[in-house]
Amino acid sequence: MDKIKLFAPATVANLSCGFDVLGCCLDGVGDEMIISKNSEQTLRITKITGQELPLSIDENVAGVSAKALLAELDEKQGFDIEIKKNIKAGSGIGSSAASAAGAVFGINKLLGEPFSANELIKFAMEGERLASGNAHADNVAPALLGGFSLVKSYEPLEIISLPSLPELRMLVLHPLIELKTRDSRSVIRQNVELKKAISQWGNLAALVSALYTQDYELLGRSLKDEIIEPVRSILIPYFDELKALALANGALGFGISGSGPSVFAMCKGDTVAEKVKAEFQEFYQDKNIDFDLHLSKINPGGIKILS
Ligand code: HSE
Repeated sequence: MDKIKLFAPATVANLSCGFDVLGCCLDGVGDEMIISKNSEQTLRITKITGQELPLSIDENVAGVSAKALLAELDEKQGFDIEIKKNIKAGSGIGSSAASAAGAVFGINKLLGEPFSANELIKFAMEGERLASGNAHADNVAPALLGGFSLVKSYEPLEIISLPSLPELRMLVLHPLIELKTRDSRSVIRQNVELKKAISQWGNLAALVSALYTQDYELLGRSLKDEIIEPVRSILIPYFDELKALALANGALGFGISGSGPSVFAMCKGDTVAEKVKAEFQEFYQDKNIDFDLHLSKINPGGIKILS
């Protein structure tokens, strides 16, 4: 096998109560990547369409992630990477993670899978380090593993896959303003009040329990964030109004997708999700802010091989 074409999915990190430790994988939106072996013994990004992004290996998240993987193997084989970006940079649905995860997944396949999907996470995290200054795993892990991922610890890195619920739908609204993860991380306070920490870890534990017991209602009630959301939501136009609208129309929960500006409404079933989508559309259309809406199931398998 000399060439592979992939779908590299978008992801929603944090899921309110799990800042930097929880994320899930979407199937309705993602990038396409073509990775092929070359005979030059060099790693190259040959083409990027859909976004203005650097082709230089050391300045591109796919490049640094791929380079980290090849360095660990001391591998001389060269590769060409082509990326068709559908996920907008700075959207909050794991644009950098999709490119980083896609690059390491594709190269690993073409090399005969020296690493498991779980082992690829640490290489893709190098892309996140480049993008935001912080090697968080809550987007790259679900992009590579699919479903829901929990980062049990960073040092040592330990990622746990969690079960999903069949009727879950994720509706993502992306107001087309750019909010860099680096910037939205800089507004977060470094110390947390014990009272808020207690509420946060109670919700995170309840969310994990809800996934195992298939309890949609508990899942929704666990999507609370007393620590990050109050600070970051100020940067998102009409956050409070959208939240009230989502909950009034039957969404299980609502929160910031990753570092924003995208927001998500988690819903049970297509009927509720379509209703919330229509309400969001109507509310946002006269606000003079362009927006994208993505309605997606949870993607159980992560990156898909297209050919
Ligand atoms: N956990 C990261 C953050 C996710 O919130 O900064 C970025 O998508």
